[in-house]
Amino acid sequence: MKALLLLGGFGTRLRPFTINKPKALLPLVNIPFISYQFELLRKYRINEVILGVGYKGDEFKKIVEMGKKFGLKVYLSYEKKPLGTAGGIKNAEKFLKGKEPFLVFNGDVLANFNLDKILNFHVEKNAYITIGMVKVSDPSSYGLIVTDDEMKIVKFIEKPKPEEIITDTINAGVYVFNSEVLEEIPSGIEVSVEKETFPQILEKGKNIYGYVHYGYWLDVGTIEKYKKGNFDLIEGKIGLLYQKTDEKIEKKENVLIGNNVSVEEKLILGNNVVIGEDSVFKGKVIVGEKTFIGKKCLIENSIIFENVFIGDECIIKDSIIGSSTLIKNNCEIKASAIGDNSYITQFSKVSY
Ligand code: GDD
Ligand code: MG
Repeated sequence: MKALLLLGGFGTRLRPFTINKPKALLPLVNIPFISYQFELLRKYRINEVILGVGYKGDEFKKIVEMGKKFGLKVYLSYEKKPLGTAGGIKNAEKFLKGKEPFLVFNGDVLANFNLDKILNFHVEKNAYITIGMVKVSDPSSYGLIVTDDEMKIVKFIEKPKPEEIITDTINAGVYVFNSEVLEEIPSGIEVSVEKETFPQILEKGKNIYGYVHYGYWLDVGTIEKYKKGNFDLIEGKIGLLYQKTDEKIEKKENVLIGNNVSVEEKLILGNNVVIGEDSVFKGKVIVGEKTFIGKKCLIENSIIFENVFIGDECIIKDSIIGSSTLIKNNCEIKASAIGDNSYITQFSKVSY
């Protein structure tokens, strides 16, 4: 079976981190986010994956090799200009051709979907399309889906106005498509699957069903949710790739930790990290490879990317620090998102 990952978005809500990298390649507990989607596919014996890319598309070339480690054949389907979610699917047609249904995923969803159950449901219902759905407490920024008692979809309300919120069930960003669905999408123009293709197919009277996923689900498309995704993984809520441990410090190779460093809850370190003496870590802290943290720092509930230099006596709380950033001594950074390649002068105070 084949799966298509839609990865062509600009990741605007994750700026500044998506200025240099597409959303799918941002680190989640120190490995690219897309790895978790590869692992999900591997788990359900899906061995061919097509990446529908546009923005920063060339960055995905290195991912093709990585896919092999997951036992996946990876193909890149490039869009010269963004074709929208349906246009991206149509653009990948040559890779998806065949009689079999295929899977489509939004590329920014972290979830432990049970793909066997979704695929069985699709067959049992004799559906033309099956859409994975989840129930959320605040559906306002998603695509609402209304079903009948048999789980047949009767209405789509994409990005509802407040008065349009009539259900807590939303499109979870995973679909099973019968191969004929490709014929419903025009080629070469921008088309949205949520706003155009799905409602048009519904209008034609075809069977679109919704399958509710009750496991873990998160769209990591904003800074807050991206941070949450990292911390939820550490808490073992997803159960893909990262296995929760009781160790306070989880470190890779060549890590140097100075005397009297204290870790209250969890500190995850990549390769070649150095931490100066008397530094204190509270809550959950993730540090990417080749990062240096000075003496007497206090770091709390933060994510620090690779190749960062942090001087002595810095305080960093509830923040994300982009790669190749230099933070000089005695800085205080709170609730902030510092982009890659930043330079922060000593004694700076940064807070959002
Ligand atoms: N190939 C390609 N081309 N991919 C695209 C394009 C495009 O032009 N535009 C967006 N994408 C990809 C994004 O990279 C992302 O992985 C996915 O399509 C969805 O786009 P988002 O911009 O993240 O949409 P959203 O989060 O606002 O809403 C979507 O996801 C929700 C669940 O997270 C919709 O599908 C909603 O209905 C849904 O509830
Ligand atoms: Mg999204």
